Amino acid sequence: MASDPSARAPKGTVDMLPATARVWEHLLHTAEGLFSLYGYEPIYTPIFEHTDVFVRGIGEATDIVGKEMYTFEDKGGRSITLRPEGTASVVRAALEHNLTANGQSAKLYYAGPMFRYERPQAGRLRQFWQIGVEALGMPEPSLDAEVIALLVRFFEAVGLPSDRMRLSINSMGDDACRPAYRAKIAAYIRDHSGDLCEECNRRADTNPLRTFDCKNDGCRAVMAEAPLLRDELCEPCATHYAAVKAYLDHLGIAYEEDPSLVRGLDYYTRTVFEVQAEGLGAQNAIGGGGRYDRLMEEYGGPPTAGLGFALGFERTMLALAAAGVEVPVPPVAEVFVARAVAEVAGDAFLICDALRSAGVAAEIDHQSRSLKSQFKLADRLRADYVVVVGPDELATGQVTLRDMATSNEERVALGDLPTIVLDRLGR
Ligand code: HAM
Repeated sequence: MASDPSARAPKGTVDMLPATARVWEHLLHTAEGLFSLYGYEPIYTPIFEHTDVFVRGIGEATDIVGKEMYTFEDKGGRSITLRPEGTASVVRAALEHNLTANGQSAKLYYAGPMFRYERPQAGRLRQFWQIGVEALGMPEPSLDAEVIALLVRFFEAVGLPSDRMRLSINSMGDDACRPAYRAKIAAYIRDHSGDLCEECNRRADTNPLRTFDCKNDGCRAVMAEAPLLRDELCEPCATHYAAVKAYLDHLGIAYEEDPSLVRGLDYYTRTVFEVQAEGLGAQNAIGGGGRYDRLMEEYGGPPTAGLGFALGFERTMLALAAAGVEVPVPPVAEVFVARAVAEVAGDAFLICDALRSAGVAAEIDHQSRSLKSQFKLADRLRADYVVVVGPDELATGQVTLRDMATSNEERVALGDLPTIVLDRLGR
């Protein structure tokens, strides 16, 4: 079995076992709570789309579309792609269902697996999990600052210390100023072709701005001297960018301007941003996003502003671990109901059921364990209390309630047990 490749999860994928899945759920609940304070509502789109949704949205010249998509023909002869990200799908769905018709705005969030055929390494998987937001129909720079603040506040809310993360921002310009800049960078690449790698030389024709993202030291040195879009923004883009920064300053959100931040998706216009975490090596971007005011038009819709971000679950986990942060996941059982002898099994079963009905996470043994083994199980489940059901106590309508942290034991009347337990649990 072990040497059979199909006995293992496919390369670049991982099974999210309960301990990790509970952390994922904790992050998800934190996101849901926080995002709802900012007016976001959930949306779930299909995990696969017509391939064209991503080709048109993300851009043919990107690594994602060019090299990383899981694309296949379905039995009906359609070209289908597993979603490599969420933005394109959400915008497609918003257009299909008229969520932004007649000048309406929409604030949406989503969570789930994404698929990219990348070379797996720490923090880089082929199936990974994202949580994201998309805000549609709102062109004002105050929204850019709000969305950026939300991303930073999410990481703070899950316990990542501010000094372990860095927020970078940039402006990618728009259709008025970017084409001329692209041409300038393409010319710059050609002028320095001898000092740039093959891939960067190719990018002069396909996607010149991605040259800023090359990891090769020689290319980085050349690109460090290249003209910056920041200095060539048209007046409306420059005004927008200045306003975003002013709003961030008002909110007290610390950021660094990184004029070489270009991101890996072609739909961006104006503001882009990324949060990088300490201690993650090369894959240090834990979340990122930007504005995409042209995307809905790509799908044949009316001009509609858009802005959003996505954060990666696995990289967030790595960043939290590197910072020594333990994610507080609730115990599997708050109360364990143990039976002293087999004869009281029926009573213990009913007591456990009554606790659950009262909203207490309660667990009981179903493997005929000894009392000692039941206590071991209670420990493993991290139960705060153990209720010991014994024949003598039952005869007087009572059970023993043991506080596992202090080892204190008290006799409690059966009828009062749920109320007392809830009280002890602070509910
Ligand atoms: P992205 O930067 O491609 O943006 O991905 C967002 C986050 O997903 C990254 O910061 C990273 O944490 C995680 N991620 C990406 N690829 C992988 C991978 N192969 N393995 C593990 N984690 C990964 C987007 O996806 C855009 N849709 C964000 C956005 C929303 N822009 C506007 N709205």
